[in-house]
Amino acid sequence: MNAFSTLPHTSPTSDADRIALLADPGFGRVFTDHMVTVRYSEGRGWHDPTLGLRRPIALDPAAAVLHYAQEIFEGLKAYRLPDGGVGSFRPDANARRFNQSALRLAMPQMPEDTFVESIRQLVIKDRDWVPLADKGSLYLRPFMFADEAFLGVRPAQSYLFCVIASPVGGYFKGGKEAVTLWVSHDYVRAVPGGTGAVKCGGNYAASLQPQLEGMAEGCDQVLFLDAVERRWIEELGGMNIMFVMRDGRIITPPLNGSILPGVTRDSLIQLATEAGHRVLEQPYSIEEWEADARSGALRECFACGTAAIITPIAEVKSKHGGFVIGNGSTGDVARKLKENLINIQYGRATDKHGWLTRLA
Ligand code: COI
Repeated sequence: MNAFSTLPHTSPTSDADRIALLADPGFGRVFTDHMVTVRYSEGRGWHDPTLGLRRPIALDPAAAVLHYAQEIFEGLKAYRLPDGGVGSFRPDANARRFNQSALRLAMPQMPEDTFVESIRQLVIKDRDWVPLADKGSLYLRPFMFADEAFLGVRPAQSYLFCVIASPVGGYFKGGKEAVTLWVSHDYVRAVPGGTGAVKCGGNYAASLQPQLEGMAEGCDQVLFLDAVERRWIEELGGMNIMFVMRDGRIITPPLNGSILPGVTRDSLIQLATEAGHRVLEQPYSIEEWEADARSGALRECFACGTAAIITPIAEVKSKHGGFVIGNGSTGDVARKLKENLINIQYGRATDKHGWLTRLA
């Protein structure tokens, strides 16, 4: 593939406007000035890598993605480092997962170095959009979709890969310290053999109706159970989950083929193990969860993901009732693990795993 071409921006955001936008960006509402695009077509492979201004994409109304949802994405962040530079966290892991998603949706593989280079190009160009360390981070959203105009049901022959960036603070509205979950008993997120273990837009579309149901009950996130027995905890609408027991064990549902293998999940398993916790990737049922919360055998519980980082879960509700976790606020284990993780991400702690990649 040839080198990235850069298209000049005609009207970038002024310094004053950018600074105002960075003051309280929320999540996913504010976007930087530029984007990366790379085209793929059968026969030619990947071509035309471009760093250009962020703008709407013109699509043929027959574009396959609009009909059969051939779309995948990733989420990772860029962090302001103590020396003013910018780093990102395990982008190679996102590149690998992106290709797993591509495989499942019969889409082309993207060379890992092209994936990481796309992110680097965008972050270097938009580095002024990376918030200061105490204000947040720059959320990066690589995605790929089928843009071939064709209505037959088969893998498309042309695709567009893009990366956009959004300065973000906390994922949950109002920077909530702890969230309430809604257990969906009527809907499932994923089935064995389905697409639950990959990051395709369709998984998130299917989570929206149960998420709405939960919000109507005053909850922040929906939690899904397995599709077969409807009792094993799988994951939330947009993040993984971990349980901290009184004896220090940490339980998290195993990667059974219908759970997204989160990069944060994987990193926390390593960090928690190194901190002396026994981490068990094993099935945990909704009945055990409630009984352990009521007996005090369960001390803490938290959501984890790139967007959520670590977000404690204070309360659980469902159509059958509800229960609270611990004292309903951040527990010690969640606090320490989060500190440990973000200190690595922001370049404030020794990176003995080699997880931090300097981008700028
Ligand atoms: C992430 O944590 O990056 C996610 O993809 C979750 C959500 C924003 C969809």
